Amino acid sequence: MSERKSVLSCIQPTGDIHYGNYFGAVKNWVQLQEKYDTLYGVVNYHAMTMPYNPKKLIENTWELVYNLLALGIEYDNLFIQSLIPEHAELCWVFNNFASFGRVENMTQFKDKSQSTSDGFISVGLYDYPVLQAADILIYKAHYVPVGEDQRQHLELTREIANRFNNQVGKEYFVLPETLHTATPKIRSTADPTRKMSKSAGEKHYISIFSDENRIRKQIRSAVTDTGETPEGQMSEGVANLFELLKAADAQDVYDHFMSTYKAGSLRYSELKDAVADTLVALSAQFSEKKAEIISDKREVKYRIKQSSSEIRKIAQKTLFEVKELCGLINVKY
Ligand code: TYM
Repeated sequence: MSERKSVLSCIQPTGDIHYGNYFGAVKNWVQLQEKYDTLYGVVNYHAMTMPYNPKKLIENTWELVYNLLALGIEYDNLFIQSLIPEHAELCWVFNNFASFGRVENMTQFKDKSQSTSDGFISVGLYDYPVLQAADILIYKAHYVPVGEDQRQHLELTREIANRFNNQVGKEYFVLPETLHTATPKIRSTADPTRKMSKSAGEKHYISIFSDENRIRKQIRSAVTDTGETPEGQMSEGVANLFELLKAADAQDVYDHFMSTYKAGSLRYSELKDAVADTLVALSAQFSEKKAEIISDKREVKYRIKQSSSEIRKIAQKTLFEVKELCGLINVKY
């Protein structure tokens, strides 16, 4: 058994991967691989909780796998959730340890249930955070690297673990801790009052694998002042551009523009050009890696199915123990 602490995190295959995902979470995932036992999931069960298209879901799932590999995630650490159905079974068990009132109060549920196009709100959307708790606890993860928006889900995960442990009379589950990057909330450049996200629509996220012109255009049209910033304070839009530089490790560029800002001589257009140059260079590097990866998609798919099946063994062991603890009739597979 490894002495290293374990890390788990997941991402939904709901479309393009963007710089909010990268700077808020995935960049950290890549670095954590050196020091910890890390597992990262492409959570396709979660992606069914909002109205979706099955063909698109498969495409998005593989595309996200290619993208994560291009960003530096290692094959052996990556799994696809639906290849490990124990997540869903543990979710059912956890439904009985999760408080209805707490789940109902999750802000993501409130936000998303208001944004369905036809007014249909699935039970899956409501149960989403319980499945997320299963994703984490099934691997007994010590640390969960996520963006700021996941804080509440992590609190619920700890509550479920705690209630389970109390009820079965054993400190069985580890209570996981959240890990944030220095930039846990990247904002939308089109509307810096909200987070960068896919669900808000295309202009609200900068896709890592989009072409140079689009990235430049999006940064050029970034909102720098909404007219609501108090005198003497940096607006959220400008602060977000600085955050992007910091997150991309462009410290010299950051320092240069910060001193011009402090001297009162900052030109937004120059700051935007610098941010665009930085992101374009990063995206070019990732796209080059992706081209290599997708040159043999069959091989990638084969390897990810293999790694998922290895990772599944950990999940099966946990589920066996959980069923024993819960008084459910059980056999070893
Ligand atoms: P998802 O797919 O929306 O996002 C993946 C990761 O990216 C982070 N993130 C951001 N960070 C900073 N600024 C932003 N604008 C931004 N947008 C997204 C998210 O915080 C997340 O870390 N519920 C999760 C998926 C999930 C999960 C899990 C995560 C399912 N099971 C178990 C951790 C552990 C989600 O929807 O992430």
